[in-house]
Amino acid sequence: MSKKKEIDERTHVLQDYAYHYYVLDQPKVPDEEYDRLLRELEELEAAHPEHRHEDSPTGRIGGEPLDQFRKVRHDVPMMSLSNAFDAEELRDFDRRVRDGISGTPVYSCELKIDGLAVTLKYEKGSFILGATRGDGQTGEDITHNLRTIGSIPLKLKEPVTLEVRGEAFMPKKSFERLNKAKAQRGEALFANPRNAAAGSLRQLDPKIAADRHLDMFIYGIGSSPDKDFDSHHEALEYVKHLGFKTNREAARLDSIEEVIDYCEKWVEKRADLPYEIDGIVVKVDSIEDQQQLGFTAKSPRWATAYKFPAEEVVTTLRTIELSVGRTGVVTPTAILDPVSVAGTTVQRASLHNEDLIREQDVKIGDRVVIKKAGDIIPKVVRVLADERTGDEEDFHMPTHCPECESELVRLEGEVALRCVNPKCPAQIREGLIHFVSRNAMNIDGLGEKVISQLFRHELVADVADIYRLQREQLLELERMGEKSADNLLSAIEATKENSLEKLLFGLGIRFVGSKAAATLAMHFETMERLQQADVEELTAVDEIGSKMADAIVTYFAQEEVQELIAELASLGVNMTYNGPKLQEASDIDSVFAGKTVVLTGSMDTMTRSEAKAEIEQLGGKVTSSVTKKTDILVAGEKAGSKLTKAEELGIQVLDESAFTEALGRS
Ligand code: IVH
Repeated sequence: MSKKKEIDERTHVLQDYAYHYYVLDQPKVPDEEYDRLLRELEELEAAHPEHRHEDSPTGRIGGEPLDQFRKVRHDVPMMSLSNAFDAEELRDFDRRVRDGISGTPVYSCELKIDGLAVTLKYEKGSFILGATRGDGQTGEDITHNLRTIGSIPLKLKEPVTLEVRGEAFMPKKSFERLNKAKAQRGEALFANPRNAAAGSLRQLDPKIAADRHLDMFIYGIGSSPDKDFDSHHEALEYVKHLGFKTNREAARLDSIEEVIDYCEKWVEKRADLPYEIDGIVVKVDSIEDQQQLGFTAKSPRWATAYKFPAEEVVTTLRTIELSVGRTGVVTPTAILDPVSVAGTTVQRASLHNEDLIREQDVKIGDRVVIKKAGDIIPKVVRVLADERTGDEEDFHMPTHCPECESELVRLEGEVALRCVNPKCPAQIREGLIHFVSRNAMNIDGLGEKVISQLFRHELVADVADIYRLQREQLLELERMGEKSADNLLSAIEATKENSLEKLLFGLGIRFVGSKAAATLAMHFETMERLQQADVEELTAVDEIGSKMADAIVTYFAQEEVQELIAELASLGVNMTYNGPKLQEASDIDSVFAGKTVVLTGSMDTMTRSEAKAEIEQLGGKVTSSVTKKTDILVAGEKAGSKLTKAEELGIQVLDESAFTEALGRS
């Protein structure tokens, strides 16, 4: 092969790999293979520079550092968006839209990526200029840095001239990596991924940006002289087709109420995304409607940004409360002046442990920054030391348990302080609360408050006492009427039938979470067999490690534990596993035994979770995406891309009737 041909082919292969990796997020080859091919291409190009392609994947970091940024005037101004802060303001936006158009609007909803707005110009398919928004009229030329972003195509799939707009950002992982490295070098940290992205793109030397693993989603078109669109959605499909990365969470919705649901869903789910978002952008989808609505001086009337409630707020720390958990760990909790954060009022925040209090230098009376992300418990992230008045007081962890006064210990390798007195009332109370909780025995009407009262009145000292409770005793409690007492007693009675795993989890054996409890119950089937199991038998069970096995053996070796279990059994609490029988995959005569199955589309005769349960019962494993490891795809009505992929990979496909037949139903 001629050197030219070799370079041509290598360039094309690498461009395709890079597109799958950066734009589609679906790498075709392992990273090492990509790097190896890239190095080889670099060597070839160095030896034959005349054959090097302009848009070679080796050439993203081109040229020398700049002396200064060049100003760029935008042909089409880069506007900003109006804001909506709650559902009512979204409904107001919807009313304004409806007043301005003739039909009913369809909305395109997109994540509002928290990065910086960037415009990209292409001429005959080649990337020629990338700029920041600046003041909306004039920005700065940052082409050299944007070229280092793998998801920005240097050449489009068609030789078109156009300008696209989007958000350049730093993924959470890159941000963490960057700040960790900065901390190690003793440098100042970036406050958030947006600042880090902006800081990286405002560098004169492109090597810095290249090192920081930025990314970019395209969310619209600035101008496209060669092509018209009927809808925003169609425009996004087009840019995607040209090779740009668009955000996959975008949705077209028919009513403002659906838009509100979408916004609320993302308030909850934003923490799961690999990048930061600060709201939802709602756009009128039809271009004709957009033209009807037009612009104000600053922003389009056809779009608005729903802004998430602030996740970080400042308040005053009034005192630090100590609590003793089920396992004896003593945790300090900050008691705050109530503040609203991420849509809820917060009065307590976690301080984790003494080391963190020292590290953050928290004092009583300090102004503190509170953060609440997703469903995580709010925590104190930092102290505003500049705002101190001098009246703040140091906090010291106690040396003795705040509940039972026994001396606290710090176990080796742990940061937490623990009370190791097994009779500590706080631990017993927390253990009782755990026993009745949802994933454990799940006793309706027996929450933290009632348990605390029962414990205080000395009606319940251990979990067996719960099953000895009498009606008259319950009636002694505050706010406990006859009806509630009867309901509570029947709820308690009903849980005697619970399957073994609920009891096992409820006992609170160290390291045994609800999933491990289920595995153990399924495997050993009775409490007796589990009590007799040794470490070897336990570790032979899938997913049970030696640490957990040791803890289980130690637990059951205690005389008090054996007595407790005997008492529970004599009170009528079930000690066996009631769930589906565990069968070795190979023992089951079914097409699903030992197979990996994916479900797609909808079926008439059963729901997806019923289908999943049946497959699992027959020894199959149900996963969510079609890969080479998938053995069978069950495809109902309206099966989409999963079916196409399964067909491409030559995977066995069952339609609904073949599936029910395989289940032995028909
Ligand atoms: S559309 C006319 N869509 O939010 C402006 N903007 O003020 C049209 N942003 O900094 C903007 N994600 O860069 C749009 N999916 C998205 C966006 C988005 C983030 C940014 C934008 C600008 C700000 C809007």
